[in-house]
Amino acid sequence: SMLEAAHENDTEPEGACEGSLVCSTCHVIVMDMEYRNKLEDPTDEENDMLYLAFGLTEMSCLGCQVI
Ligand code: FES
Repeated sequence: SMLEAAHENDTEPEGACEGSLVCSTCHVIVMDMEYRNKLEDPTDEENDMLYLAFGLTEMSCLGCQVI
């Protein structure tokens, strides 16, 4: 996932729950439309947690769910 790649490179997002979908600390904003169009639609469970993210935008995703 994007979160795992970030951790391998010692960078953010934090990802406090390590992908268990019980936090929103892995919030990322994917601006590249070409890449974004390749992403699967978020699940209802992901959306429920995403709505709690600080600074939510239309381009927001949970980094732990982006493969
Ligand atoms: Fe907690 Fe992604 S790491 S929801």
